Amino acid sequence: MEDIKIGLVGLGTVGSGVLQMLTSNQDKIANITGRSLTVKTIVVHNIDKPRTVDLTGIQLTSDLNAIMDDPEIQIVVEVMGGIHPAKEIITQLLQAGKHVVTANKDLIANAGEELATTARDTHTDLMYEASVAGGIPILRTIVNSFAADHILEVKGIVNGTTNYILTQMQQHGRSYEEALQQAQKLGFAEADPTNDVAGIDAAYKMIILSQFAFGTQLSLDKMAVTGIDNVQLDDVTQAAELGYTVKLLGVAKRIDDGVFAEVAPVLVPSDHPLATINNENNAVMVTGQAVGETLFYGPGAGGLPTANSVLSDIISESKNIALGTTGNGFNNYQTQTQYADPAD
Ligand code: HSE
Repeated sequence: MEDIKIGLVGLGTVGSGVLQMLTSNQDKIANITGRSLTVKTIVVHNIDKPRTVDLTGIQLTSDLNAIMDDPEIQIVVEVMGGIHPAKEIITQLLQAGKHVVTANKDLIANAGEELATTARDTHTDLMYEASVAGGIPILRTIVNSFAADHILEVKGIVNGTTNYILTQMQQHGRSYEEALQQAQKLGFAEADPTNDVAGIDAAYKMIILSQFAFGTQLSLDKMAVTGIDNVQLDDVTQAAELGYTVKLLGVAKRIDDGVFAEVAPVLVPSDHPLATINNENNAVMVTGQAVGETLFYGPGAGGLPTANSVLSDIISESKNIALGTTGNGFNNYQTQTQYADPAD
């Protein structure tokens, strides 16, 4: 069986999860793709840092050229996070002919169009299923399963940290600060949780969902974004007494002349399905003209759930390589949607 060699840029929680799942599910993945997938090289900032994953047979280096200049490596997974230098690194990788899989929502929300253009120009693929709602396979579901329908609205809980905080406040009477600290300890929050609590992380995910649902390139300045940083314990308990649950909801919907999108804390009737999504879990409700309401639920953060979504992209790209159909990644999906949408 032919080999596909993979490079990793970053080896944090998600990178370690990818390595772990790729190793333990090797046979199943080989059966599906017809190729044997192995991680050859991992680029990290600090090669001396103690690691908990088995790195036998893998080159650990701080030199990106070890991936860039290696013709054997066809797929590269970027899990370092942040916009810079991730943007420059992915650009160089695409220009070097590598297919790139990333979980980086900040980057895709801010520079996804530019990177997609680079991927199209270089006949490579850019995939980022893990950038939205961690373990929920929502982007590929919109691409594949809503292909014939017109999506009217996408809404949901797409930030695990704030949902964890609101759940802890409502169900355990914890203060905002106490719940935030706990979310940080459990590893859901970003290194700097400002983007989580200010609603920006959720807005980035709604920007990406809007690309897939509506073929629209939104930006933060076109959205109304309010976080939960001003929500008090009293607000949450009083809402509960009146039969409501406070949730940070992202909404993107088709309106007459385009798409309206916002992120805000909302009073959701406590018997609504979105009110029952607790702790770090996410849920995305997609309403199609033909299908009606559908709801996708699952973990929105965490090493293995996010790694599973990264792996779905790696497997998809490996099939493309095996079948000789590369150049069909998410970068091409966006263009097709934009031009195929009669509402544009
Ligand atoms: N900080 C993010 C969250 C991680 O809490 O949802 C997953 O994107």
